Amino acid sequence: MSAEILSGTETAGALRKELAARVEAIRSSQGWVPGLATVLVGDDPASRAYVGMKNRAAGEVGIHSRQIDLPADVPEAELLGLVEGLNADPEIHGILVQLPLPGHIRESRILEAIRPEKDVDGFHPVNVGRLSSGDRDVLAPCTPAGIVELLLRNGHDPSGRHVVVVGRSNIVGKPMASLLLRKGRGGDATVTVAHSRTPDLGAVTRLADILIVAVGWPGTVTGEMVRPGAVVVDVGVNRVDDASTEKGYRLVGDVDFEGVRAVAGAITPVPGGVGPMTIATLLSNTLQAAMALRAMDEGMQG
Ligand code: GUN
Repeated sequence: MSAEILSGTETAGALRKELAARVEAIRSSQGWVPGLATVLVGDDPASRAYVGMKNRAAGEVGIHSRQIDLPADVPEAELLGLVEGLNADPEIHGILVQLPLPGHIRESRILEAIRPEKDVDGFHPVNVGRLSSGDRDVLAPCTPAGIVELLLRNGHDPSGRHVVVVGRSNIVGKPMASLLLRKGRGGDATVTVAHSRTPDLGAVTRLADILIVAVGWPGTVTGEMVRPGAVVVDVGVNRVDDASTEKGYRLVGDVDFEGVRAVAGAITPVPGGVGPMTIATLLSNTLQAAMALRAMDEGMQG
């Protein structure tokens, strides 16, 4: 058997089209557009590429975007001041500070300074708490929320299925579990979270109807660790040396793609799987934040 390829590029394209239509409807009938600010500290090439893709994608659906680049040695207080300015800026509805930050900046201080209503990453403790309490209106982290959307739109509703998440990061693993446990659309799953200290990982991953792998290490999941017919979502993006390519490297996920493809029922490719869904979800969160902020402002005026 060869698995169905779950194309994030295609599904994200459909989602972005819907978002573009909604943004255009707001612009033409109400005369405003959602605004997203991205903040890049330092010059990590991968982070720069991600932030560039996020801004381009925003522009393509009609969202106003502003990228702020700061040097790697920017003082924490200056970054906090910038966030405060964006919190108060009526043209900006979503704020994203690209992670990781340089070592001298306390990540938690920055994430906690972002106004929760503008926290389109869903990383503020208030939003983390709301998500784990089951709130369905919360801004949820883009990668796990994008994975849920990818599953739903391709006929793999997690409701009632056993989902095994490998990885316990704050960006993917933990919010992934919270989303899948939530009641209602995209949730209602039975969830197991495994991680680097899980003995006999294969014994756990073989239980999965849906297996989501987010550890940042190539080849973590091989064919014999997957139950035949399972749906496999590969969140990893790893550079491996490859002298045959122009850049000298190629991108692979955390899953041994060829080995797992022969066993699984469906699998996401890398690139072209989860990544495009993360970006489309960021745009969707920005629109959601903008609508909620506008409704709040109108409530105060009226
Ligand atoms: N770094 C890696 N993934 C993410 C993400 O989803 N948001 C932010 N802000 N930084 C990241």
